[in-house]
Amino acid sequence: MKINIKPESLKALKSFNLPEKLEFGKCLVPVMIKAEFKNGTWGELELIPYGTLDLDPCSKVLHYGQEIFEGMKAYKNSQGEVNLFRPLENFKRFNFSARRMAMPEVSQEFFIGGIETLVQHCKDFIPTQEGHSLYMRPMMIATEVGLGIKPAEEFMFLIVASPSGSYFKQDNVKVFIERNFTRAAPGGMGSAKTGGNYAGSLIADKINREKGFHQTMWLDAVSRTYVEEMSGMNFFAVINGELYTPPLSNTILAGITRDSVLTLAKNMGIKTHEEKINVNTLRSQIRFGECSEAFVCGTAAIITPIESLTDGNEVYELKNPKGRIALEIKNQMLSIQAQKCEGPAGWIHKINC
Ligand SMILES: Cc1ncc(COP(=O)(O)O)c(C=O)c1O
Repeated sequence: MKINIKPESLKALKSFNLPEKLEFGKCLVPVMIKAEFKNGTWGELELIPYGTLDLDPCSKVLHYGQEIFEGMKAYKNSQGEVNLFRPLENFKRFNFSARRMAMPEVSQEFFIGGIETLVQHCKDFIPTQEGHSLYMRPMMIATEVGLGIKPAEEFMFLIVASPSGSYFKQDNVKVFIERNFTRAAPGGMGSAKTGGNYAGSLIADKINREKGFHQTMWLDAVSRTYVEEMSGMNFFAVINGELYTPPLSNTILAGITRDSVLTLAKNMGIKTHEEKINVNTLRSQIRFGECSEAFVCGTAAIITPIESLTDGNEVYELKNPKGRIALEIKNQMLSIQAQKCEGPAGWIHKINC
């Protein structure tokens, strides 16, 4: 794929230094990928200096939220080799989100080519400490101008990248079971990676954070009984030594980490179940120790054990708040990403830098 490398972007890269301390998503590399969709086709991909966008106040994204994004990471191992983890899954999910949000799809060459070019130019800014990586955000926004409610016909594709440390500052998280607000309704857009899902969950996250919780657990919007996921990660519970996670549906984002956890657990001989999890049953399974641990997982969060689940004023503390199975799977996943051991075929996408 031919990508137009703007000379100003090479200049911007030369004067950039990686800060010593990295948080999640705060530091941005000084270049980004951009392309525009007009008259039914995508224009060329460009590598340009990172900067603000020239956006009309009546661009449809600003009014109707027609936008999608992805979250993926590039890793550098101790030999300096760079790889992506299952990027084809991000590509497929990006197009799935695009279809749901009435947006144009992109080709594999376009998506992966854009990512590879950005990573190749930013190879010196990929941190190597454990749990650190270059976090990348491919995204698409509706740029057509007009206040009529209809799908836009003009779009912008961008990829920005952030050398990042861990998402959570602590080793495990306190989760609050949300009984008031809901995240996604059947037939809605809960399984698409689009801003509206996150915008709608912010109020509960804010209230729960003020009460000292790190994550909100969303229940199904109809019966408010079954566990769905967190605002930005999937959920697993270890019950009687076996691994349970809610089945995918159109109200849950199909996490790539979730899928990887299921595969790794099976390979480790752990029995896995994709089954509805009744939150009331789960509470008593935690009380009686049958549910010994639970964890959240996602590209950003990796795998993070849950310390406790709180429902109203009732606190349910996990027997293994630091995780045991969670940590075994996490270590396996980190080793694969650092190319210290072989993962399932196709998981590691090497980049020639
Ligand atoms: C709502 C939601 N669920 C789950 C996940 C985990 O998905 P993945 O493992 O692909 O990062 C994410 C993160 O992208 C998310 O935003």
